[in-house]
Amino acid sequence: MTVLVLALLFMSLTTAGSVPSDQIFQYIEEHQNEYVQRLKDWIAIESDSNDPEKRHLVTNMMLLAEERIRTLGGTVEMVDLGMQELPNGNKISLPPVILANIVKDPKKPTVCFYGHLDVQPAEIEDGWSTEPYILTEKNGNLYGRGASDDKGQVLAVLNAIEALQKHELPVNVKILLEGMEEVESTGLKELVEERNSTFFSDVDHIVVTDTAWISSKPGITYGTRGNCYFLVEVECAKQDLHSGSFGGLLHEAMNDLIFLLSTLADSSGHILIPGIYEAVAPLTEKEKKLYEGTEYDLDVIKAKYGIKQFINKTKEELLMQRSRYPSLSIHGIQGAFSAPGTKTVIPAKVIGKFSIRLVPNMELSVVKKQVTDYLNKRFTERNSPNSFKVTYRKGSKSWLADPNEPQYLAARKAIKRVFGKEADMIRSGGTIPIATDFQELTGKSIMLLGIGGPDDAPHGQDEKISRYIYIEGTKLYAAFLQELSTV
Ligand SMILES: *[C@@H]1O[C@H](CO)[C@@H](O)[C@H](O)[C@H]1NC(C)=O
Ligand SMILES: *[C@@H]1O[C@H](CO)[C@@H](O)[C@H](O)[C@H]1NC(C)=O
Ligand SMILES: [Zn+2]
Repeated sequence: MTVLVLALLFMSLTTAGSVPSDQIFQYIEEHQNEYVQRLKDWIAIESDSNDPEKRHLVTNMMLLAEERIRTLGGTVEMVDLGMQELPNGNKISLPPVILANIVKDPKKPTVCFYGHLDVQPAEIEDGWSTEPYILTEKNGNLYGRGASDDKGQVLAVLNAIEALQKHELPVNVKILLEGMEEVESTGLKELVEERNSTFFSDVDHIVVTDTAWISSKPGITYGTRGNCYFLVEVECAKQDLHSGSFGGLLHEAMNDLIFLLSTLADSSGHILIPGIYEAVAPLTEKEKKLYEGTEYDLDVIKAKYGIKQFINKTKEELLMQRSRYPSLSIHGIQGAFSAPGTKTVIPAKVIGKFSIRLVPNMELSVVKKQVTDYLNKRFTERNSPNSFKVTYRKGSKSWLADPNEPQYLAARKAIKRVFGKEADMIRSGGTIPIATDFQELTGKSIMLLGIGGPDDAPHGQDEKISRYIYIEGTKLYAAFLQELSTV
């Protein structure tokens, strides 16, 4: 009888998985100083992938992470990606990629975490308040290059696995860590393609832990916009001219270009290129609800950046503008006189630069044609004798997942459990190529579950992660793995 009561009591205390999460959470709390020390050790390595002189440090960083993962058991492969050719023709080794495998039970689902261990450059002279490679705690924040992007996030995952292992790891875990993310993930796509039928074959879910929340509420990113970049070139002479001698005599390239650029969108940002909105998916009630639940404080953002007024009034409209509709931005004019002063030059050749953020269903090839046809037509109408050319420079597709896929449900439950709040469901306005790449190369369910805070300043001075988010984020990954075993 007593045994039965105890057994029932035990079962009722048990949440997802077979281990009470209280014990796991308590273990994480108790070990937080150890986790901070690990982050300190990782931050101390200047794994700047941009600087060829520091490439050996990126490799050292990968080796340190390998050591950490080996203590979790399983197998670790350090994959050699070969050489990288530098712009000056020299060749240097790429840092190894870590492919780790902690498989306990082939019948259980397998989740693969992706993160990176390289960082952006940082020097105290850039305006840091503390040494960027010495993790420094101030007012509850842990300052250091890579603290948020992405060493802290990767360590939170590894710490969560370790904490679960004290009891039981409820699902199989694989880990992919690279050291070239800040340089467009050189070599990674090829590796994923090559390992699709091996390393990735039994992966059910891919979780990218390299993203930030957009508010103080934890967020899950389920979509990103793509982008396509164009150059418009107009040339009116072989060399720059003086407006005293030539003003009024010829069709000036700059005037043509400004005319063309001004025909791209109207004063409320509506893109005037015919057909550009055709592919945009209709808004459903279900999707609308997700924007309503997302936190996005317009007044704070306006004040922070000194923006007088947004085009749209409500939070929902702005979130939609930012994530589910295309937008067009003009970035610059090459060849224009841009220095201070009042030079009376007529630039001979100017190149306007603009890009369009793409949303799901918009095809790069179609947009390319729409843009080129439109500008050609407008230029013809202008009747200018100048030479004119539109070129497409680069682009990437958007990505969108179904936020009701099992791993999303598990992550939402885990966020609720750890933070006591509903997750912000985010469609990022920017481009995260790794999401699109994983999607296209593996066909697996992808989710972006990062723990970067909204003001962590990744890539900037005084990058940080708060101790609170680092530790609660560790709990979040632990809870996520538990929930994943039950969905
Ligand atoms: C934002 O405002 C513009 C201009 O009034 C409008 O065309 C657009 O549809 C609005 N966006 C949303 C999502 O309502
Ligand atoms: C990768 O492998 C999966 C099966 O695990 C398959 O469905 C998918 O088509 C493959 N991707 C490519 C690009 O071949
Ligand atoms: Zn990153």
